[in-house]
Amino acid sequence: MKELSRLVSSIPPSETLAVSDKAKALKAAGRDVVALAGGDPDFDTPDYITAAAFQAIENGATHYPAPMKGITPLLEAIAHKMEVDNGVKLNPGSDIVVTPGGKWSIFLALSAIMNPGDEVLYLEPVWVSYPPMITLAGGTPVAVTLPADDNFRITADRLREKITPRTKALMVNTPNNPTGRVLTQEEYDAIVSVALEYDLYVIADEIYETIIFDGRKHLSLAAAPGMGERTLTINGLSKSHAMTGWRLGWLAGPAPILKLAAQMNGQTVSSAANFTMHAAVAALKGPRDTTRAMTEAYQKRRDFMVPALNAIDGVECMDIEGAFYLFPRFPNSTRTSAELAEALIEKAGIASVPGGAFGKSGEGHVRFTIATAMNDLEKAVDKLAKVAHEL
Ligand SMILES: Cc1ncc(COP(=O)(O)O)c(C=O)c1O
Repeated sequence: MKELSRLVSSIPPSETLAVSDKAKALKAAGRDVVALAGGDPDFDTPDYITAAAFQAIENGATHYPAPMKGITPLLEAIAHKMEVDNGVKLNPGSDIVVTPGGKWSIFLALSAIMNPGDEVLYLEPVWVSYPPMITLAGGTPVAVTLPADDNFRITADRLREKITPRTKALMVNTPNNPTGRVLTQEEYDAIVSVALEYDLYVIADEIYETIIFDGRKHLSLAAAPGMGERTLTINGLSKSHAMTGWRLGWLAGPAPILKLAAQMNGQTVSSAANFTMHAAVAALKGPRDTTRAMTEAYQKRRDFMVPALNAIDGVECMDIEGAFYLFPRFPNSTRTSAELAEALIEKAGIASVPGGAFGKSGEGHVRFTIATAMNDLEKAVDKLAKVAHEL
């Protein structure tokens, strides 16, 4: 047989999905496994959103949508949301594309700006999919390493160190998966000043926007002066409305880039699902109390988990400011993060994601989700306390 794709063969499979699959298989085989590897809210999609989808199906929204890049009420609802919540003014007709999930909007953003040889900076620890997506879109991924000992802080100097004449864009995720960090004003200003100084595009992944703790304010990069014309914002309903399975995200930004993104969307996936788009209108226009209640629950779980993990000898866990992941490390252990995750599942029945999946600076860590019921989290702490000395 002739050779398969070198490009696709060069990227690793998604480790987060692989660990989740392994945990599910062990559970199915009768093992008592606490699944802390996934990134899927344990809440159900709010009823008023599900009802809107059923209604849309009954009304015949089972054909191709028009326009394919997003039905008009949804484009308008997204533009309204981004103006009110994010301080970003958009033209719904030209500045937004609706996608089947936030992940695809990241790939569209990269594809629309990339040429061979272009470098894209990403901040490490990094969500597993960014580097492979940069590669698949024809670019070269370049890591900006953020040290755990400095609370994964972003500084202008750390960014500048990796900039070359080929640097095209910078990817930022706030609130962050896997570290739980949220951009401070200082970090925000550093990113803005470097992007303006070096004429970079910024891909701002704000998918965890609503999951933010202790009254912190989410800062949208597209809202800063001079950033609207260079920022591509990624968002969606997967996390905010517990709608991972509905596959609904969007890309928003400057019209010339969005024109290419819409073209690419049309020539690949065609569109998001029609009735999902109708449900999304209901989600964006509906009451915000369910989203708020989910965030409050995540915050309560964090308030329990962080001190509980730190009370275990040999476990260190930084506090988190947003998203729903903890990123503990095991300072006495000599194991790699992959070995740690393996030992956790074998010895304690806890499924986690090895920190190394998020880049070299994730080594020594594992990622636990707190998008899991409190009793499972309590069980995980008990199990971990019993085996921590063996790690
Ligand atoms: C940082 C980050 N960006 C984007 C996504 C994509 O979300 P979606 O399920 O909407 O494709 C995820 C999902 O886990 C994520 O963690």
